[in-house]
Amino acid sequence: MAVVKIDLDRRIGAIDRKIYGMFIEHLGRCIYGGIYEPGSPLSDARGFRRDVLEAVRNLQVPILRYPGGNFVSAYHWLDGVGPKDQRPPRPEPAWKAIESNEFGTNEFIQYCREVPTDPYLCANLGSGSMDEAAAWVEYCNREVGTSHANLRAEHGFEEPHRVTYWGLGNEIYGDWQIGHKTAEDYAKFARECAKLMKRVDPSIELVLCGGQELDWDREVLGKCADLVEHISYHFYWGPVRDQDPHYSTLAQPYYSELYWQFLWQLIQQIRRDQHVEHGIKICVDEWNNWATAHPDKHAKDRYDLTDALSVAIYLNAMRRNCESIEIATLAQMVNVIAPIFTSPEGMFLQTIYHPLRLAAEKSGSIALDAHVACDTYAADYLGLPSVPYLDALVTLDEAGKKLFLSLVNLHRDEAQHVDVLIDGGAVRADGAAHVITGESPETINDFGKEGVSCQTESVAGLGARFTYELPPLAHAVLELDIA
Ligand code: AHR
Repeated sequence: MAVVKIDLDRRIGAIDRKIYGMFIEHLGRCIYGGIYEPGSPLSDARGFRRDVLEAVRNLQVPILRYPGGNFVSAYHWLDGVGPKDQRPPRPEPAWKAIESNEFGTNEFIQYCREVPTDPYLCANLGSGSMDEAAAWVEYCNREVGTSHANLRAEHGFEEPHRVTYWGLGNEIYGDWQIGHKTAEDYAKFARECAKLMKRVDPSIELVLCGGQELDWDREVLGKCADLVEHISYHFYWGPVRDQDPHYSTLAQPYYSELYWQFLWQLIQQIRRDQHVEHGIKICVDEWNNWATAHPDKHAKDRYDLTDALSVAIYLNAMRRNCESIEIATLAQMVNVIAPIFTSPEGMFLQTIYHPLRLAAEKSGSIALDAHVACDTYAADYLGLPSVPYLDALVTLDEAGKKLFLSLVNLHRDEAQHVDVLIDGGAVRADGAAHVITGESPETINDFGKEGVSCQTESVAGLGARFTYELPPLAHAVLELDIA
């Protein structure tokens, strides 16, 4: 039994569509053999996999982050531009691979145009220099007339690429990162890079490297707030050791939600203290369930139904926090912890693809502040005394004509009888329910097998008050017309 009370006038705010972004890195088969496979009968003349492109387009990806990740912290972008036969193969220290540099900045931009999506480039603030970061901005964004912009034109791109979003390095707080730095050292370096990059193109927006840790975030934002528009946040999750794998996985998004609230307060405090007039928002530029790497997981590289539900909850949580979160890019888009999985012969959609597509397709742009009452369970191992068995997000479209209820029933065995009470209006008697579910928490998708998919059914008997029965282990989006 659960209650969702909706007041059509109680708005949280506008949801930025950039939260439906994705990330591609030079890692494993994400780029080579993922989005890009020249010579394959499945690819177009530029080597872009057409089947993958179609699946990407269905996700309506508004922004795409590139080229890393850990990879970027030793990446020199000049290696990846110009005639392909002159690009140097290099040892790649982040993932201990060889990088051919066959795919680089211009291929990435062409891919973005083809999707279409906005490019988001992350600069190398690990082994790279200020000059190198600024030269990349010049190469991408300046009109011809200066050396790196001229070089772009020589490479066949007369018009600037006009890349708005730039990351100031990746996970520099971690010892695993090439060029790892303390918060103090990073803040100094990031500040100088930001200054120089913005002098080359003042219109760019910068993403400071956050650390998912308040001391780091306070130090780096405290030193760079006047120069940046975003601070990054990364979160991966899976089952918690020695805990119920299903319920501990599904508790994880709430852990993130708590941190965003701390971080949002910190941002406002720093802006106030330093009189920073422009807004600074959270950029969740790596997030995903990484359970496929968990040693106890039955099928490595295959997501299951629990994983899909956890992604649905995370998407709900980001939209509930639309005031503070402007950009999010799922790590990663293809093959590497990803919703799309390829082989040289074809591809399939992982279970997590379905909630991503549903969120992109069936969500209003305004989040409402719904009140949810339901049974809960304790996840004290994450510092969460009460995790709701029913996760709910309510959104309204811009015109105020459609209401969307995005519901997730975390319960493994029991259906939720959801009483929906609407104040300030009602919905028409008939609507649609888009439902993602499967036989068990472990149900997976694979080549030629779809255990978890999205089905649409009609719902009737709606109004200002109605009850919707959500089966166990299910995510449903109710698409309703305001009466
Ligand atoms: O997405 C995989 C890796 O996870 C990224 O390269 C890194 O930033 C993070 O640790």
